Amino acid sequence: MKKAKRLALIPPYLFVKIEEKKEELVKRGVDVIDFGIGDPDLPTPAHIIKKMREILDTKEAANYPTSKGEFAFRKAVSKWYQKRFRVELNPRDEVCCLIGSKEGLAHLPLCFIDPGDVALIPDPSYPVYKICTTLAGGEPHLLPLTAANDFLPQLEKVPAKVLKKAKLLFINYPNNPTGAVCDKKFLEQAVAFAKKHGLLLVSDLAYSEMGYDGYQPNSVLEIPGAKEIAIEFHSLSKTYNMTGWRIGMAVGNKEAVGALATLKSNLDSGAFKAVQLAAIEALSGSQQCVEDNRRTFEGRRNVLIDGLNSLGWKIARPKATFYMWVPVPQGETSASFTERVLDKCGILVVPGNGYGPSGEGYVRMAITLPKERIAEAVLRLKKAGIGF
Ligand SMILES: Cc1ncc(COP(=O)(O)O)c(C=O)c1O
Repeated sequence: MKKAKRLALIPPYLFVKIEEKKEELVKRGVDVIDFGIGDPDLPTPAHIIKKMREILDTKEAANYPTSKGEFAFRKAVSKWYQKRFRVELNPRDEVCCLIGSKEGLAHLPLCFIDPGDVALIPDPSYPVYKICTTLAGGEPHLLPLTAANDFLPQLEKVPAKVLKKAKLLFINYPNNPTGAVCDKKFLEQAVAFAKKHGLLLVSDLAYSEMGYDGYQPNSVLEIPGAKEIAIEFHSLSKTYNMTGWRIGMAVGNKEAVGALATLKSNLDSGAFKAVQLAAIEALSGSQQCVEDNRRTFEGRRNVLIDGLNSLGWKIARPKATFYMWVPVPQGETSASFTERVLDKCGILVVPGNGYGPSGEGYVRMAITLPKERIAEAVLRLKKAGIGF
C-alpha cells in the first residue's frame, strides 16, 4: 500500500508509544505509577453528568449539531469569558465550538499556512502545533524555552528572514510541558510583536483554571487591541475533568474564528449536541468544582516537589498546571532517566525531548494520581538511590 508522502513527515503521536510501553509492563505484573499523560483522574462533577443524562432523554440530542456550535453554547462561552477575564466576545462570530481544543489547534494551520510559510512554535511544546504546521506544508521555526529565560520565548531573536515568511505565533501559558506561567507584560509584548510583523497570535489557554497559590492566569484577549490579531483556544477538558467528552472553543478575532468555522463545516459536523448543552451547565453552574480541583492538584504538587527536593532536586513549585518539569541528574539524558526510573522503580514519566529538542535534559511528570501514589513514587526513588 502506498501512503501519501505527508504521512512520512509525522511521527507516531508521543503518547501512543508511551501507552504501549506501559501496557507491556503491566502485562509483566509491574505496579506502574503513571505520571504520563495529562488526563485528570478525578471524576466529571456530578451536576454536569446529571445535566447530560437529562439531555440524552430528549430527541434534540440525537440530531446533527452545527459545526460552529449551538448558539446557546457560544453564548455561555462568551458569558464565561466576561466573568472570568472581563473580555467581551460576540457569540455570533467571535466564538466557535470545537471537538476538544486539539481539534481546533490541529486545523488552524490549514487555514493560515501555505506551503513554505512559517509558524513560530515554542520548544518544547504541545506536539500538535508543530505536527499540524508540517502537515499543512509549513515550516515550524522553534523558539527555545529555557530555564534561563523563565521558559518564555525570546521574540526579539527571531531572524528577520524567518519573520518575512512567518504567519502564526503560538504561545501557551500556563505551559505544557514546563508548567511555566507568564505575566501580562509578556502578553503585551506578544501582541505588539504579532501586530508589528503581521502574525496571527495563537494563544492556547487550556490550563487557565489551574493556577496555584492564588495565581490567576490571564487571557491574551485582556490586552487592549489583542482581538485585532489573536485567536485563543480553550477547553473544558482540564477545568472540569472532561477530557473524554471532547469539547472546547476557539475565540477572538472574527476573521480567524470564521476561517476555522468554514474549514470545520467542511470536515466535521460539530461536537455532540448533548455534550455542548451539558458544557453550558459546566460553564454557567457552580464553579466550586474548579476550586476543589485546584486544591487537590496544589496538594499533590507540594507532595511531589517537596519529595523530589528531599532527594537533592531544587525545583520551585510551579504556579500552574499539573505538569512538573523535572531536570534529570547530571550525566543522564531525558531518555536514559526515563528508562532508569521505569526499570528500577516502575515509575512512568515522559522524556522532555518528546516535546522538542529544548526539552532534552528534563522529564515531565503529570500529577494525575492520588497523593499516596505520588508519595510512594518518591519512596521508590529513595529506595533505589535515585536523586539529583
Ligand atoms: C497545551 C494543550 N493544549 C491543548 C490540549 C488539548 O486538549 P483538549 O483537546 O482535550 O481540549 C492539551 C491536552 O493535553 C494541551 O496540553
